Amino acid sequence: MRLTVAGQTTLDQPPGPNTYTPTSTLASTLNLAPSVTPNILDPAAPDAQTFCPGYKATNVVTSDDTITADLTLAGAPCNAYGNDISDLKLQVQYQNAAQLNVKIFPKFMAPGNRSLYILDDSLSPSGSISTGSTANGSDLVFEWCNEPSFQFRVKRVQSDEALFDTFGSILVFEDQFLELTTKMVPNYNIYGLPEAIRGSFRLPNQYTQTFWNQYNEMNDQPIDANMHSTHPVYLETRYGNSSSKSHVVYGRNLHGQEWLLRPEQLIYRTIGGSFDFYFFSGPSPTQALAQQQLGVIGTPVMQPYWALGFHQVRWSYQNWTVLQEIIDGYAAANIQLEAIWNDLDYLFQYRIFSHDNNTYPIDEGQAFLAKLHANGQYWMPILDPNVYVPDPTNGTDANPTYDRGKALDIYIKRGEGHTDDYIGIQWPGFSVWPDFLHNASQDFWTNEMLMYHEQLAFDGWWLDINDLSSWCTGSCGTGRLADQPVHVPFKLPGEPGQINYDYPEGFDQTNATEAASASAASASQASAYPTPTTTVGTATVGFTSATPGVRNITFPPYVLNLTLEGHSLLREVVAPYATHNDGYNTTEYELHNTYGYASGQATYNALLSVFPGKRPFFLSRSTSPGSGATTGHWGGDTNSRWGNMYMTIPEALTFSVAGIPYFGVETCGFNGNADMELCTRWMQLSAFFPLYRNHNSRNTIAQEAFRWATTAEATRRVMDVRFRLLPYQYTLFYAAHKRGETVLRALSWNFPDDESLKSIDNQFMLGPSILITPVLAPLLRTSQGVFPGVPNTRWYDWYTLEEVQVQPGQNLTLDAPLEHVPVHVRGGSIIASQTPGNTTKMTRMNPWTILIALDSQQEAIGELYLDDGLSQEPTDIKEVKLAYANSTLTTSVSGSYDDTNCLANITIAGWNENGGHASWSAVEVSVGGNSVESKEVKITNRNGAVYVTGLEGVAKAFDGNLSITFK
Ligand code: NOJ
Repeated sequence: MRLTVAGQTTLDQPPGPNTYTPTSTLASTLNLAPSVTPNILDPAAPDAQTFCPGYKATNVVTSDDTITADLTLAGAPCNAYGNDISDLKLQVQYQNAAQLNVKIFPKFMAPGNRSLYILDDSLSPSGSISTGSTANGSDLVFEWCNEPSFQFRVKRVQSDEALFDTFGSILVFEDQFLELTTKMVPNYNIYGLPEAIRGSFRLPNQYTQTFWNQYNEMNDQPIDANMHSTHPVYLETRYGNSSSKSHVVYGRNLHGQEWLLRPEQLIYRTIGGSFDFYFFSGPSPTQALAQQQLGVIGTPVMQPYWALGFHQVRWSYQNWTVLQEIIDGYAAANIQLEAIWNDLDYLFQYRIFSHDNNTYPIDEGQAFLAKLHANGQYWMPILDPNVYVPDPTNGTDANPTYDRGKALDIYIKRGEGHTDDYIGIQWPGFSVWPDFLHNASQDFWTNEMLMYHEQLAFDGWWLDINDLSSWCTGSCGTGRLADQPVHVPFKLPGEPGQINYDYPEGFDQTNATEAASASAASASQASAYPTPTTTVGTATVGFTSATPGVRNITFPPYVLNLTLEGHSLLREVVAPYATHNDGYNTTEYELHNTYGYASGQATYNALLSVFPGKRPFFLSRSTSPGSGATTGHWGGDTNSRWGNMYMTIPEALTFSVAGIPYFGVETCGFNGNADMELCTRWMQLSAFFPLYRNHNSRNTIAQEAFRWATTAEATRRVMDVRFRLLPYQYTLFYAAHKRGETVLRALSWNFPDDESLKSIDNQFMLGPSILITPVLAPLLRTSQGVFPGVPNTRWYDWYTLEEVQVQPGQNLTLDAPLEHVPVHVRGGSIIASQTPGNTTKMTRMNPWTILIALDSQQEAIGELYLDDGLSQEPTDIKEVKLAYANSTLTTSVSGSYDDTNCLANITIAGWNENGGHASWSAVEVSVGGNSVESKEVKITNRNGAVYVTGLEGVAKAFDGNLSITFK
């Protein structure tokens, strides 16, 4: 079928592998999960604070770095939403000067008692006491009291202010419900708690964040809801008189949970596990974030250099020829393309580690990949964790991958006393999931990848659906395998009736004819394919009282406010009663939110075997604390809407809080059609996100950057900026990897003392020096933004190097015709860049230009990190410090990495005419203290900037310590 929308022809749209049967009994199995009423929306739900007894502390033992105590239930059990645990243990550790850990957990736990599951270190990193750490040396102090029951608070020593304060509330600890409340300061500023699509980076003071990883296939962008990842961590900033202090609070628990932000308090509730809070004292926002990474969750993985190139994918690339056409399309448009990705289309009936012999034959693929790799480009196919279970009665339906896993008995089990595999539904039909808690799963995963790589030389994976989605309720495939291959119980995008005719806001004005035609096509589709009514079952379960001695993990008494219709924990995920092969049959109820991390670790390790010594590159759809040490993440199936585009900025910044800087979104939107204007603006915005990828669904029109002339032109221009900033961005990743620094930054992180910046999320910064003020609404030819730090900080237009004339706090209107995105450089920065080539590899062979953006003292500094961009543990690296003062640029170089490129140009912005530079005509260059050349160079003055060109041949840019004096 060829889809034509309003004159725009897309690539062929595929039917699904199997016929969709609306009358199929499968469709109804989806609906078995009854509707439940979320606790926070249920006025009848009891408030545990009003009738639970709390605990009393006894046996308090204090040492230099640790406090321990017994906590005993202080009255009759309230059994609010579970069974009260009568004896608990408190353990407080001063782990280092900036890091305090408070653990409260059951005192008596028989080994293997999974009904009181405590998060294992293998599924989420934890912190420990650093040598020499003591309470006396800490920035933080733990205080507690016993009246009327046990309460605690954590204070900042220096200011004596409470950062976290449960005084005045009751601690509730039950087998299916934990609750703790901290007081919040008025109008508090907190940021974080991903993953959610939100309308602001600064979290509202009336907001609930629910965590239970899910994939809402038909509407992946519900606002303010639980999504694919769980990161129970926030950054709080408190402003004083022209100053601020920030700290981080991390609740290390991955059970289903909710954080209820209320005007004066924050209520923390989980449906299991333990209290395990980490507090990091900052006091700057970036220090607090670094402390979290260095102390507990780990610093971000060093991505290969090529990960920073531009990536293209679309669900609908039908064969190798189409992939080649896309690559050629980019080349013809003169737009850099680093990697072509494949969605499910390359697979045989969606089965992982397969290929479709008709459309993606191996021999053709090998030739395609040889050419791709020879051009310095890469191939990134999709990988899902679900494994197709073949019809055992049909020999031709064999799936060797399934058989190999089955032989190792590694799949997640059905649970509820059954020892057979849990069989749910994913793209290929009835499917099972490798259980990465089973020791043999790593071997299975590695082996499959090694074998696959011998056939088709992929360069990494895009790990999808590991949040752990299943589109039926329970083990619906059990006993029904003879029906295989079954179609998922809903229509897939692109199937009859599933063409998407939505266009972005403003399309009716920019393209009235096509908008009218799309609207007519949509109406006729709607009448030809009336929307099937779906119900989620008839039973509505409200608050259920806990039954003493009973744990109900299918319908836990505390009901999370989940996004999917019906709110049930069973909805579209592997059911909570499925069990893992960890020796204890731990249920999915305990482990659901850890699958993304576990599958990510296995994928990382497997890639290390496929590419020994090289950095594994993959993206994980589901993540949790610690995932950033192995993977990056993308923001799910974004809608092609202006509002969604804007919300990617809060989302990207929020993932910086979670220690996952390699983040990006589906540029131009995934669901719904893009139009020229949206795609143009989105290509400009995403160019400053670390992951730069364009991707869309197969029931929408094509949106590669070369599809519209204006988008192509805007992309070429912004790609030039991105590529010139590659060494700078790569250096930021190194700082993130080594020191836990951030890559994308909120303005308030770089200028922490300016309270007016606390809510700004229509602008953001790349590292300390680059400010982006994108256009985020249709029909605009300007954007508006502030320039922090003025008058002490100077800002320069990236393109003209003219200094920005702006008042403190002024919201300046900037010209932004369609092909242009405003970018500014902060004075005081030095940025080393290379002339863009077609790929990152070609770019890395080009000469260097050094941009010196002067501060008001006519000085600047910068840094640069270099290595081969690929080795996991590079032995040859180079660290360069750059400084400019008194008309002299100096570099201080350490390390042995051999960058052979010469220095070609030096550009100085903010040049002060009174400094006498007008007479410059030569540079005197010395390397390692020895004068090598005094050279006449071409010096041009423009817009107050000095352009020194023609330096080639003088010296390699970063071979030794350079000193360049302008005369
Ligand atoms: C869900 C992913 O988020 C999306 O990017 C992908 O296209 C579909 N799965 C199909 O694989």
